[in-house]
Amino acid sequence: MKILAIESSCDETAAAVVEDGRTVLSNIVASQIEEHRLYGGVVPEIASRRHAEAIVGVVDEAVKTAGCTLEDIDAVAVTYAPGLIGALLVGVNFAKGLSLATGKPLIPTHHLRSHIASNYISHKELKPPFLCLVVSGGHSHIVEVKDYTDMKVIGRTRDDAAGEAFDKAARAMGIPYPGGVELDKIAETGDDSAFPMPRPHVDGSPYDFSFSGLKTAVINLIHNRRQKGEELPIADVCASYRKAVVGCLTENFLKAAEDLGCTTLVTAGGVSANSLLRRELERLCDGKYQLYMPEKYLCGDNGAMVGAQGYYEYLAGHIAKSDLNAIATLPINENRF
Ligand code: KG4
Ligand code: ZN
Repeated sequence: MKILAIESSCDETAAAVVEDGRTVLSNIVASQIEEHRLYGGVVPEIASRRHAEAIVGVVDEAVKTAGCTLEDIDAVAVTYAPGLIGALLVGVNFAKGLSLATGKPLIPTHHLRSHIASNYISHKELKPPFLCLVVSGGHSHIVEVKDYTDMKVIGRTRDDAAGEAFDKAARAMGIPYPGGVELDKIAETGDDSAFPMPRPHVDGSPYDFSFSGLKTAVINLIHNRRQKGEELPIADVCASYRKAVVGCLTENFLKAAEDLGCTTLVTAGGVSANSLLRRELERLCDGKYQLYMPEKYLCGDNGAMVGAQGYYEYLAGHIAKSDLNAIATLPINENRF
């Protein structure tokens, strides 16, 4: 079954054709990052307008690159939640029009479920159940994936998402948006023990995260140094901070795995491209847990992951009606269509 998948929840206009949830026939991503960088973050109205401009070309290219015509496509999948509402509406409405024009079923897909599904492309043998660390710019969750469309959140962030924590600290150091990527590169050259950082815990909730205190600690450190006119050893700050954020993620994730008796661990989302997170998980899981991480090109937002998850949503009978709407906030275990 060939699914044409569309993603427009944030600042990437993306489309892909995916066969049977596992094989990518095309994967086209048009990024708007350069423009949002001018403002230090994603500007929602600009995002919506750029999606509107790009979507026809991106979908057309995805279909052509896959060597298909619209007639070869069996269904259209689209991200309907969560995300920037104006951005989501562009993809949802385009997909609805396409579905109406072609008579193919419309599959509503949850963005975080799709991030998890990027692993089905990278690892053909991977099947639920497993425990997944979903870490993106907007979310940080530990999710028990019981089945392809049946999930339970075990832990979540109480404040900033991991990607947000990286981006905000990077911004304070003058690193352009989205700073998480660059901070990761700079950290590779720094001394991670140069600046001891707090290791925040959420009282009574061992699987929940809190990054705001850590972010404040690094911002205070930067400001204090600047006020005193002292030079800031950026690589050391990046390395120390990255170690602390990654430490929080791995500690809670592995505790949840141990307590729940999960033996298969998976990561997903933009932050799962982080080099230290990948190395640390490999080290901690070695011989104890089966670890799966998406290939780096599938960590950030893309259409292929929507096509992968869309396939399993279709098998579960999740077909949208013509009144499908975009939803800005929707728990990962809920369906609203
Ligand atoms: O999943 P994603 O592409 O979009 C959302 O759904 O939010 O995640 C984007 C986030 C950004 O905050 C970005 O800085 C972060 O992922 N990110 C990274 C790395 N690559 C992307 N954070 C740390 N290290 C990286 N290598
Ligand atoms: Zn995402």
